[in-house]
Amino acid sequence: MTEVKRVLAIGFSQTGQSRSVLDSILGPLRASSEIEVTELELEPVEAFPFPWPFWRFFDTFPECVYEEPAPIREPNIRGDEDFDLIIFSWQVWFLSPAMPAMAFLQHPKARRVLAGKPIVSVIACRNMWLSAYETFKRHIEYIGGHLVDNVVLTDRAHSAATFVSTPVWVLTGHRGPFLGGLIPAAGVSREDIDAAARFGEAIARQLPGRARDDLTPMLKGLGAVHVNERMIASERIAHRSFRIWGALLRALGPPNTPLRRAVLAVYFLFLFTLIITVVPLSAVIKRLIAPLTRKRTARQRRYYAAPSGESTELLDHTA
Ligand SMILES: Cc1cc2nc3c(=O)[nH]c(=O)nc-3n(C[C@H](O)[C@H](O)[C@H](O)COP(=O)(O)O)c2cc1C
Repeated sequence: MTEVKRVLAIGFSQTGQSRSVLDSILGPLRASSEIEVTELELEPVEAFPFPWPFWRFFDTFPECVYEEPAPIREPNIRGDEDFDLIIFSWQVWFLSPAMPAMAFLQHPKARRVLAGKPIVSVIACRNMWLSAYETFKRHIEYIGGHLVDNVVLTDRAHSAATFVSTPVWVLTGHRGPFLGGLIPAAGVSREDIDAAARFGEAIARQLPGRARDDLTPMLKGLGAVHVNERMIASERIAHRSFRIWGALLRALGPPNTPLRRAVLAVYFLFLFTLIITVVPLSAVIKRLIAPLTRKRTARQRRYYAAPSGESTELLDHTA
């Protein structure tokens, strides 16, 4: 009889979206007699509000970007367990890993449990995940984990629509659709969440027979990621802007102090203007110069799509 493989599934979700993506992936693993799943729900010491009050939401960005998360409760694992695979579900806050995920990555137990282990990252967000993924990879590398796959589920509506629907969703709790359907409901679609079960099936099929030191991807060919190349430059600009203004705001005081709030208001106007001007402009420029930068863009896409890659060759295209 083969030995049962032990999987640790780590997650946090405010709206239930990341939760249902993780559940969809875990379904086939839970159904397998050769796999045992342990779940670790990350719990902030002080719950984040949902919906978010406007200033509280916005005032969270400096600490998110500077990787100084609000603390989580002691993770409900011993730390000396020996898992065969870690599935780490997380979301993006301000182009950075969300605070609960970051708090876990910085927790001493993360190093004990993740070091030397194969890790499957699962992201569910609006559509800007590239910078956050860089940060996530840096932390995984620092604690000695091995990223073997990355699954990314995003809101497939047009960027201009999600630029409205995502903030409305997180600031009011209303998901839409809005304006009689002109702006589709915010978030990852139900179909995409259900279809994420294919990743669980692939893992359930491969993990039982996999050698412990095998660190090759399991989810190639399944369309685990799609890199929107128009986001590469926009994210870089926005992330740099977050770093500069975040440093200034942090120098002015902790969240919710008057001077910081006043400068935050100025930044909000600046950022809003930046997003409605520079972001579309950079997308247009990018499109215009695309023929000249094709090779570089292809290289960047491969880089961000690693380790699972963008290929969909194993998907049933007739369905
Ligand atoms: C504070 C905050 C900041 C966010 N920033 C981003 C972002 O930079 N990029 C992005 O694609 N999604 C962003 N989102 C959307 C989240 O990644 C996530 O999809 C959404 O909040 C659903 O939450 P859940 O996974 O906790 O249920 C943000 C959400 C919140 C609450």
